[in-house]
Amino acid sequence: MPNIALSVSVQTEYTAKKATKNNPIPTIIAYVTDDGTVLGGLGDAEYLTRAQDLISQSSFKGGLGESVTDYAIHAKELPVLTVIGVGKLDKLAGNIAKVAAATYTAIKNAPRAVILWGDTICHKHFTQFGLALLAASYRFDHHKAKAADSDAIKDITIISNRDELDAYQAALAFVLATAKGVSVARDVANEAPNVLTPSELAKKSKQLAKDYAEKISVSILGEKEMQKMGMGCFLAVSQGSDEEGKLAVIEYYGKTGRAGKKSRLSNPIALVGKGLTFDTGGISLKPAAGMEEMKFDMGGAASILGTIKAIAEANLAIDVVAVLACAENMPSARATRPGDVVTAMNGMSVEVLNTDAEGRLVLCDALCYVQENYKPKAIIDTATLTGACVIALGSVRSGLYSNDEDLLFALESASEFTNDLVWHMPLDDSYNEQLNSKIADVQNIGGREAGSVTAACFLQRFIKENQAWAHLDIAGTAWKSGSTNSATGRPVALLAQYLRSQAD
Ligand code: BES
Ligand code: MN
Ligand code: ZN
Repeated sequence: MPNIALSVSVQTEYTAKKATKNNPIPTIIAYVTDDGTVLGGLGDAEYLTRAQDLISQSSFKGGLGESVTDYAIHAKELPVLTVIGVGKLDKLAGNIAKVAAATYTAIKNAPRAVILWGDTICHKHFTQFGLALLAASYRFDHHKAKAADSDAIKDITIISNRDELDAYQAALAFVLATAKGVSVARDVANEAPNVLTPSELAKKSKQLAKDYAEKISVSILGEKEMQKMGMGCFLAVSQGSDEEGKLAVIEYYGKTGRAGKKSRLSNPIALVGKGLTFDTGGISLKPAAGMEEMKFDMGGAASILGTIKAIAEANLAIDVVAVLACAENMPSARATRPGDVVTAMNGMSVEVLNTDAEGRLVLCDALCYVQENYKPKAIIDTATLTGACVIALGSVRSGLYSNDEDLLFALESASEFTNDLVWHMPLDDSYNEQLNSKIADVQNIGGREAGSVTAACFLQRFIKENQAWAHLDIAGTAWKSGSTNSATGRPVALLAQYLRSQAD
């Protein structure tokens, strides 16, 4: 992530200072609605008049993402002024990420920028704006021989005239920590699948243990250990690949620190991530078109890594255990066949009717593992689990499933707060019946209907009675398909905010 100093200032009036060598003249950003109103109320500073002139003398209509710039080229002491359209004021809340993206485009070539929000945004929208602004600066270019020049922008100040400095500063701290986590998740997920093997993915957690040694410890389990624990479902996925499957177990001691800790965390929140570094479908092979996107099938694990990064940066006082289920799904002579029956760590037998429904197989053993070894207050798993979820919700909202009302409410609140949107999906028993197997305790697919729901129902079968659990199907939200083809880092912001809401 580029190093951008983002700050917030509360002041009732803004006048650009004269430029100095260390403080070049900033680009000033002001926002205008589609009825021509300059947002803010920062007093009658000279920029307001300039903004009005700029609007009246151009074809600028204040439409969402539109912009016009006054470079003031004949007056060297004057800042560059760009007005950006936000469209309808009553729709601004839903458009804040788009406004942030347009803002980044407008300021990226200037060394400094001052963003005049005036009285328009509260700390919640400030949070969403800040996250989206920093996300817009993200690049993934380390495989290119010659990386493009980085953007000039180094310093951004957001100015509000609401007398809420403490709230803004808390929001800013959260934004800076979370943006780092999001960036980690994107870097890991964007990596090529020949580079990011299951072992390499698991190893990423070692970096966190190194960077935050006083709070994080990591252990990585290989296939031998998984065999001993009876993780037959995980191994059924991994066995077709030449790459060894790994389970990375990350312990975050946010309450007391690691020092003197011999015993395991007690009652942590457990996070579990699907980490398929590549999903060919196995013997139930996927079609060729678009298969390269299945490098993102570790987006769940990447989001969990990113979340741990974010909460470690924010120094959250909370205990968390995270498990990354890292494997590669390949066809080979050793691969699992459709029809094979395997046994999970908790003793349940699973009839594998489609080897492409592999995410739930690695996850069920990881879910058994956290329940067996910790007494989690709550378990949340994230997974690029089903194409059906992409059909149901597209790339706007992740599918949210839960057996616990408090957890559901807390996740929905965190989602709404961060604009990392989810939609509550059902878990009725009637869906669950689609998974009844003729010869085993359960089968791994439930037919064409409600594919995202039956996948969640499969996971739920491995959750013990009274264990609070939620599942996020991020198949549509973890990356942007098509020409963008880049990881989004979702749902790091949602999870980081959830954990913040649960911390002491
Ligand atoms: N990783 C895929 C799900 C996926 C597909 C995510 C497309 C994003 C885009 C998962 O492992 C999978 O293949 N699921 C199957 C399940 C089916 C065989 C029941 C699917 O969705 O087709
Ligand atoms: Mn699959
Ligand atoms: Zn998959």
